[in-house]
Amino acid sequence: MEKKNNVLLINGPNLNLLGEREPTIYGSYTLSSIIKNLKKEANKYNIQLFDFQSNSEHLLIEEIHNAKNKSIVYIIFNPAAFTHTSIALRDALSAINIPFIEVHISNIYARENFRTNSWFSDISHGIISGLGKDGYLWALKTIINRIKKK
Ligand code: DQA
Repeated sequence: MEKKNNVLLINGPNLNLLGEREPTIYGSYTLSSIIKNLKKEANKYNIQLFDFQSNSEHLLIEEIHNAKNKSIVYIIFNPAAFTHTSIALRDALSAINIPFIEVHISNIYARENFRTNSWFSDISHGIISGLGKDGYLWALKTIINRIKKK
């Protein structure tokens, strides 16, 4: 059987509260339902989707470092509030040199001004913001297309 491509989905702080957290901004779906859906889609294309959520910057950095050991070929990353603050997470991604897509459920350009700054966008392959949970799915579809082209 053909070897599976490993993709890692990482979600940052407070995204474990999806479903109950500010539903007018983030919707009423839970993180586990998003992950379930993505895994189902990934499976169809021979992709093994790993997932990780943490409220801790330290643990997110460790997970990014570990991506090399898990032979991850692509990362889908919603850094949540760390988007706007964390040079340490940015440096971790630069260090491992694995391509990633930055995803935000809400449109960070249509909210408070401080959310318009991202420490990730310029080193990402692309950014999806404001498409709700579908943003994760579009990121996965892009990765599927890129893997197929190889
Ligand atoms: C978010 C946007 C961030 O500004 C915010 O801090 C989050 C979630 C989003 O998915 O829309 O926690 O990344």
